[in-house]
Amino acid sequence: MFDNTHAHITTWVIAIILFFVAVGLHNAGKKKGMKVVHMILRLFYLLIILTGALLFWKHQGINPALYGIKGLVGIWVIGMFEMVLVRMNKGKSTKMFWIQLIIALIIVLYLGLRLPLGLNFLG
Ligand code: HEM
Repeated sequence: MFDNTHAHITTWVIAIILFFVAVGLHNAGKKKGMKVVHMILRLFYLLIILTGALLFWKHQGINPALYGIKGLVGIWVIGMFEMVLVRMNKGKSTKMFWIQLIIALIIVLYLGLRLPLGLNFLG
């Protein structure tokens, strides 16, 4: 949990899958199912932040600025998951939030893979 990124990767991979399942259920008109998946997704937000924060506390000394930005952009991704789903439910436009989600996701994957723990082939 502190020294390798496996737990952290597991939490955000599951969250991305749950996010798309929630979008799919919404598009299929399955409101109740979507609500349940959305609740589980919210639990995974906490797990992503917890596993990310544990890595952060232990290793940020390597490069505090980049680790700080990595954490903030990670929270930005989570914020955009939430904005898309909540606005979808309200029938409001989600386009700006989808765009931000894609940008934030690219940045967080890039930073995560560049930073020294785990995979860092962008090095
Ligand atoms: C959906 C949101 C997030 C995604 C998609 C994501 C993605 C990633 C990826 C791809 C890695 C690299 C794994 C590896 O190289 O083995 C990583 C590592 C890391 N993440 Fe996240 N992350 C997210 C949220 C967060 C949050 C909220 C925090 C802080 C609270 C955080 C802190 C970290 C730290 C400290 C590392 C270790 C960096 C290193 O390789 O040295 N992440 N994350």
